[in-house]
Amino acid sequence: MVSKICCIGAGYVGGPSMAVMADSSPGVDIEVVDVDQQRIDAWNNLNGASLPIYEPGLQQVLDRVRGHNLYFSTDVAGAIRRADMVFLSVNTPTKHRGHGAGAAADLTFIEKAARQIADSAQGATIVVERSTLPVRTADGLRRILDCSTNARFEILSNPEFMAEGTAIDDLQNPDRVLVGGQCDATVNALAGIYANWVPSSRIITTNLWSAELAKLTANAFLAQRISSINAIAGICEATGADVEEVRRAIGADRRIGAEFLKSGPGFGGSCFKKDLLNLIYLAEHYGLDEVARYWRMVLDLNGWSQKRISQMIVKTLFGTLRDKRIAVLGFAFKADTNDTRESPAIGICRDLLHDGASLSIHDPRVDDGAMRSLLSMSDDGLPAVGGFEKAASVETACDGADAVLILTDWHQYKQLDWADLASRMRQPGWVFDARRGTNLAEAESHGLDTWQIGRGGLN
Ligand code: UDX
Ligand code: ADP
Repeated sequence: MVSKICCIGAGYVGGPSMAVMADSSPGVDIEVVDVDQQRIDAWNNLNGASLPIYEPGLQQVLDRVRGHNLYFSTDVAGAIRRADMVFLSVNTPTKHRGHGAGAAADLTFIEKAARQIADSAQGATIVVERSTLPVRTADGLRRILDCSTNARFEILSNPEFMAEGTAIDDLQNPDRVLVGGQCDATVNALAGIYANWVPSSRIITTNLWSAELAKLTANAFLAQRISSINAIAGICEATGADVEEVRRAIGADRRIGAEFLKSGPGFGGSCFKKDLLNLIYLAEHYGLDEVARYWRMVLDLNGWSQKRISQMIVKTLFGTLRDKRIAVLGFAFKADTNDTRESPAIGICRDLLHDGASLSIHDPRVDDGAMRSLLSMSDDGLPAVGGFEKAASVETACDGADAVLILTDWHQYKQLDWADLASRMRQPGWVFDARRGTNLAEAESHGLDTWQIGRGGLN
């Protein structure tokens, strides 16, 4: 029976997933630990700090469990020592230098955490991989853990499929939970915890390597759908077809399904790019060059989806953005999150700045510190040319703007008051809607020129 759990890493995955586990498993005590004291203070809402991540419903779950059977602290060694199950939820960014740079996962944090577990664990301990990892990471993990003299280990892979912005609902009602391992009793120990709130038909058990590969595969397939629909959006614009109509038509086919077919400025987030790179690296490693090229194309197309938007804007605004002001609506990679990792807004804004634009960026959840650190340099590492500021409201962003660019699918952008916004803008004014999320007919009725992703024939 598992009664004490430790989760190493209090990030976007560790925090919410342990909160939901604690909420549904009253018999289990969970300590979430992190080396980052500020982050832990924020999880504890100390000194007026707000939670480190924005996620609808998270605060309510935390209010029920924090200090009850869920604790946040920096006592990594102590929490490992007390635990009979340790979740590894540390970050695995893409390697920036050395062998495999630009593709392979950087496992520094995993390795460090594994050494901490080997040093501190006592007795029989189950180590659970939660971070998305390259296939066969468990081999390396075992090698390090086996150096322990005080503990014996079993390793499980339990990848998390939740998406940001819907994390709490995804965690409470998952399509499936995946537990991979080599020992049935250990697999059942973790499956038994999930059984507290997930129907057993949704708990899938596999071998270790299938679980590791399934996570990469799921993200690669999802990313592939977005790149596919974005490619079709380009054809729609050129031919007079409308990608929303195409989406409805193909989404009704049960074999294709309606989800994940919305065209936009390209996918962002912490997972898709990293996991595709991971898969490409894996394919290359095994000499599967065509396979690597196939998945590389999904990624390349995502770069194209972003670039074409900045290029189209420059072209539309008479070939130069100098002395032009653009209101950018949305900086997070999607709605309902403050996360900006790999957000398409970063590359697009950098391009616009590079062309001399002055940007006024609105986002309901992203703070200006995050924008500043991402935009003060251009892609080539040089200081950005144009200037930018964070706007306190959509209205102030639009004051004196030549164009409005919608990049994130925040709900509030669906109900913009175009009569008011048009009157604040310099004429002629444009609206570029990269999310199909606003009433452009209304914008047009107030004299604005419009462009919408995947809508053909009107440019
Ligand atoms: C993703 C996976 O969905 C999740 O299962 C995995 O565990 C982690 O990676 P996340 O990155 O949080 O989750 O968000 P997701 O909702 O998948 O969106 C990713 C990106 O794709 C966003 O930039 C989003 O705007 C874009 N997207 C999504 C589209 O452009 N069109 C769509 O139809 C869906
Ligand atoms: P994810 O989206 O996968 O949750 P994050 O970057 O949000 O990734 O969170 C990972 C967390 O793991 C960070 O807060 C980081 O400080 C923490 N972390 C990394 N290595 C260790 C370690 N060895 N011990 C404790 N915490 C760690």
